[in-house]
Amino acid sequence: MKNHTDNQEYVSLVQDILENQEFQKLQGIVHHGHNRLDHSLRVSYFSYRIGKMLTLDYRKIARAALLHDFFFEDNESANCKTRVKTLVRHPEYALENASKYYDLTEMERDIIVTHMFPISPRVPKYLESWLVDLVDDCVSVSEKLYLARREFSTAMSFVFFCFINYLR
Ligand SMILES: [Fe+2]
Ligand SMILES: [Fe+2]
Repeated sequence: MKNHTDNQEYVSLVQDILENQEFQKLQGIVHHGHNRLDHSLRVSYFSYRIGKMLTLDYRKIARAALLHDFFFEDNESANCKTRVKTLVRHPEYALENASKYYDLTEMERDIIVTHMFPISPRVPKYLESWLVDLVDDCVSVSEKLYLARREFSTAMSFVFFCFINYLR
């Protein structure tokens, strides 16, 4: 799949969000071992491509999926209780932040606030919301697997290094 920046239609749909200085701060927050802005872009672009293929409302999908994790709590270094709270409630934080800057439609609001179903209790009302929920899960799993593989190879390199030093 091409990079999102190669797709002029996609870029034109989300340009104003990408230029929002508050939104750009997501780049500084660790999310599944990557950064939250890159994660949001992946979810948005894949959802947009699939939504377009399925003749869903890909404009609203692209924008709402990009805003689905528009929150600033750092969940990677938080304690267990805070992590659980943020995991369940961050769709509401994202909706609150997105509403400060954008006049969201009912469907866009639903896509954002239901993207953690069934961990969060709100059930998606639209096919577009189900799609973003599913794509977010797939992207999150692939990001975590990539991270685990990287950590595993680092650990193996360390073991190998110790072993070589032991043999000397
Ligand atoms: Fe999320
Ligand atoms: Fe997400």
